[in-house]
Amino acid sequence: MDEEKQVSRRGFLSRTIWAIGGLITAGFGIPAIAYIIGPALQRDAAQNLIRLGAASKVELGIPTLFKVTVQRKTGWIVNEEELSIYVRTDDGRNFTAMSNVCTHLGCRVRWVADRKEFFCPCHNGVFDKDGNVISGPPPRPLNRYEVKVENGQLSIVGG
Ligand code: FES
Repeated sequence: MDEEKQVSRRGFLSRTIWAIGGLITAGFGIPAIAYIIGPALQRDAAQNLIRLGAASKVELGIPTLFKVTVQRKTGWIVNEEELSIYVRTDDGRNFTAMSNVCTHLGCRVRWVADRKEFFCPCHNGVFDKDGNVISGPPPRPLNRYEVKVENGQLSIVGG
């Protein structure tokens, strides 16, 4: 009987020590794991909205170039990226935003006002005012962005 009590006392002590060890491990381990993998799991919708500037800068019918620096966070790594976005409007209410990166090999296109076309000097790619390919080797239109206008400020989604 005494031996049984001792065994159960020994068992109780053993379980208690394991339980305390488990609590200590959980107390340090769970925050440590959250600290390590947390940033990789974060998704902030607000991060996807990139502010360009005042909508009033865009003249009717003339694509206007906006340049912004965005920070992209992938896990623990933060990269800065320069974006150049052409924004155009025909009525001052509906805006179209497109990348100035040629879809052929990534050169920068520029707006040629007297021809009303985007021109890529690398291989003579030509795009219309909406970014559609007119001629040259580019395989597809300029990349488009969804535009938001709030309090007279233009933003694009994603980027
Ligand atoms: S990179 Fe623009 S046409 Fe080739």
